[in-house]
Amino acid sequence: MRKPIIAGNWKMFKHLSDAVEFVEAVKSSIPNKEKVDSVICAPALFLPTLVEQAKGSNLAIGAQTMHFEKEGAFTGEVSPSQLSDIAVSYVVLGHSERREYYNETDAAVNKKTQAAFEYNLTPIVCVGETLEEREAGNTVAKVAGQVRAALEGLSTEQVKQTVIAYEPIWAIGTGKTATAEDANEVCGAVRATVQEIAGPDAAAAIRIQYGGSVKPENIVELLSMEHIDGALVGGASLQSDSYLRLLEAG
Ligand code: G3P
Repeated sequence: MRKPIIAGNWKMFKHLSDAVEFVEAVKSSIPNKEKVDSVICAPALFLPTLVEQAKGSNLAIGAQTMHFEKEGAFTGEVSPSQLSDIAVSYVVLGHSERREYYNETDAAVNKKTQAAFEYNLTPIVCVGETLEEREAGNTVAKVAGQVRAALEGLSTEQVKQTVIAYEPIWAIGTGKTATAEDANEVCGAVRATVQEIAGPDAAAAIRIQYGGSVKPENIVELLSMEHIDGALVGGASLQSDSYLRLLEAG
């Protein structure tokens, strides 16, 4: 039985005071860690404060991106070692917005995924197709290719611990959710790809989230599907009451 993982991705929203207020409002109401992994992926600037604030609670704090090098002359970047040093536990990698606006390639996502494990961070690796790719019938080919590239060179144990977030690009922030059946079909294809790469145990263990206009109103149905083990949520994770309602579904 895979434990659900529900992660909020705040993107470039909120100021530090809003973030602190949010964590204060939710931290004592987060469900037990044994039942669901509850994560907030916040802007890098907020991470040290939120990690301290969430200490001793069931809320885990994650980053939204990172470089793959431990350190170096990379102005503006944050390294895996820096995240690990302040006890951040998750990192979102290869989000479609990073791929589109910051040229994050499959090769870079792979290096970052490997670096995450080197520094004890759990990677949440995002994959997903554009509307054109879906309409051309290329969804599974696109997503399977991204999964293969991201997981290359990982041990079976590391594959098991990776979280994959399937986020169809056309469903992000648009209010258009994939139907639970469509989302499940693609998540099933992700699992089949993992099985080809790393075997049945890894395929059975890896957690696959759906992301794209997830809300308290649709999360229960999505999570009831065989291959959907959680959600990566943008807009609906910004308000504390809505975030807590999402976690209740886990
Ligand atoms: O990473 C989560 C995200 O891209 C989905 O955003 O606002 O459609 O839930 P949203």
